[in-house]
Amino acid sequence: MQNILINATDAASYISSKLKNEPKLAIILGSGLGGLADEVITDRVEIPYSEIPHFPVSTVKGHSGKLIAGKIYDKDIIIMQGRFHYYEGYELSEVTFPIRVFALLGVRGIIVTNSAGGINRKFDPGDLMLITDHINISSISPLRGENEETFGERFPSMTEAYSLRLRKLALDVAFMKEKEYSYGEKIELKEGVYAFMRGPQYETPAEIRMLDIIGADAVGMSTVPEVIVANQMGMEVLGISCITNVHKPGEKPTHEEVIENADKSAEKFRKLIMRILKNIT
Ligand code: HPA
Repeated sequence: MQNILINATDAASYISSKLKNEPKLAIILGSGLGGLADEVITDRVEIPYSEIPHFPVSTVKGHSGKLIAGKIYDKDIIIMQGRFHYYEGYELSEVTFPIRVFALLGVRGIIVTNSAGGINRKFDPGDLMLITDHINISSISPLRGENEETFGERFPSMTEAYSLRLRKLALDVAFMKEKEYSYGEKIELKEGVYAFMRGPQYETPAEIRMLDIIGADAVGMSTVPEVIVANQMGMEVLGISCITNVHKPGEKPTHEEVIENADKSAEKFRKLIMRILKNIT
């Protein structure tokens, strides 16, 4: 753990030497959702992961692997375009390394996005789902091993892993619940529980039935490790899934379908995140 602290401090000081401002909010972009990074124009700085000391390098199609920092609506943000997955062979300490680095940079809040398979039969491909809670069915934890006190508690609470305040904001701006949010059209935003499987294989019909019974609305191969670490480090978390496929008897999910449906929802997703960024405090 001491090494992670040293390495994360090293990475944070490299990144901050490149940045024009101190980011307060981080955004992790899931597969196919990378377009949001085009919104960063003011004070834009791009840093490929390969340049950052101790940073893992991403390998998956659709994840290009760089940090993009700058301002959106005058808010200092840092975007991860491309994330690390356990199924790629990374340890969870590597998967969550960027979160440690962000916290050391002074980031206080994080928006985590992903593509997910729908378990809830009321979902349709292309839906956006606000994550209300998660189930770590993988049973692996990024906090296993010696605890580094600087990072946070040995036994952190996960009672409100997804900030109620930020969830309310997301619903308010999506459905324009307050008069001051006059944005044109409503954005349908479902809500649900995200289950983390290690992957990379998709789920069997029996696993889908199990996930349904235990209360999952969606399933995916990311997010939960990052959210656990963000919580340990005292960050406020907002999680949004793009439902790229819905598990139904006899239907096989494919990676192509996942990427294609993530692309189709990209515009809706971008609009929602922009509304959130406009109003987040
Ligand atoms: N299962 C797991 N991960 C996913 C899925 C799925 O069906 N779709 C997108 N990511």
